[in-house]
Amino acid sequence: MKTDTLAMPSLQLTADQIEQYHQQGYLVIESLLPAKTCDVLKSHMGNLLQNFDPTTVRSVFTTNEQVRHTDQYFMDSADKVSFFFEEEAFDAQGELRQSLELSINKVGHGLHSQDALFKAFSLDAVWSGVLQQLGMAQPAAVQSMYIFKQPSIGGEVNCHQDSTFLFTQPMSVIGLWFAIEEATLENGCLWGIPGGHKIGLLKRFERCAPDAIETKMVTIKEHQWDNSELVALPVPKGSLVILNGEFPHLSYANRSSQSRHAYAIHAVDQACHYPQENWLQLSNQQHLVPFAAPTNI
Ligand code: FE2
Repeated sequence: MKTDTLAMPSLQLTADQIEQYHQQGYLVIESLLPAKTCDVLKSHMGNLLQNFDPTTVRSVFTTNEQVRHTDQYFMDSADKVSFFFEEEAFDAQGELRQSLELSINKVGHGLHSQDALFKAFSLDAVWSGVLQQLGMAQPAAVQSMYIFKQPSIGGEVNCHQDSTFLFTQPMSVIGLWFAIEEATLENGCLWGIPGGHKIGLLKRFERCAPDAIETKMVTIKEHQWDNSELVALPVPKGSLVILNGEFPHLSYANRSSQSRHAYAIHAVDQACHYPQENWLQLSNQQHLVPFAAPTNI
């Protein structure tokens, strides 16, 4: 597929938007992407799924710490296009309850570096311009994922901070979350706690040792999120939600008949230290992919 089929938006944040991001920890820009761009990404993902052989791997994605199991397939996915199933995808006999296209939780974590179309979208100069406006000196993409939030079985994602899973010193993670389809209260839109990023990072998910498959969750700060402070972030198709790495957020299970596809890119500042304990490590030790230089700054 030619990458010039992707129509990219332009975006220059206002002073108020930048202030909102720093004060609240997130920023919503509704209907930023042309609908056609969402459709092209979605249909390209459909093609990738058609070429996936589910008999080769059955890795399930969950954010539930009690049942989380890290496996080699997951740990090796930083620079691959890997497929992770929904927890509820299989029946008691281990067979898929529904078609493969409706069974995948997410695809990641190297779409931005391994797939030509997602690379063109993810590394576009418009994003480096935005990230620089938010204070990043040298923005680089480190992780990407296409999230399906499948109808009926799309699993809950517990309240978390993205910097738990992607840590830099000093803190620099920013998430760019794109609604490929409309995200509603019914199909599992994002929820977050405005200003919650100011509490600081509560936990770190680390490899027990560099190169180890074993991981551990390390508590940095004892704090219980107050669910009554959660606000829903339903957004139309094509919207961008920018998330500070310490912004607490979640999404509930999708029990509706509508999927809620989203694509997320996580960026870090190359000027910051990227520890070997982060689970996400590229096999060639180059985890960071620079964005194209902004043209508007
Ligand atoms: Fe997240």
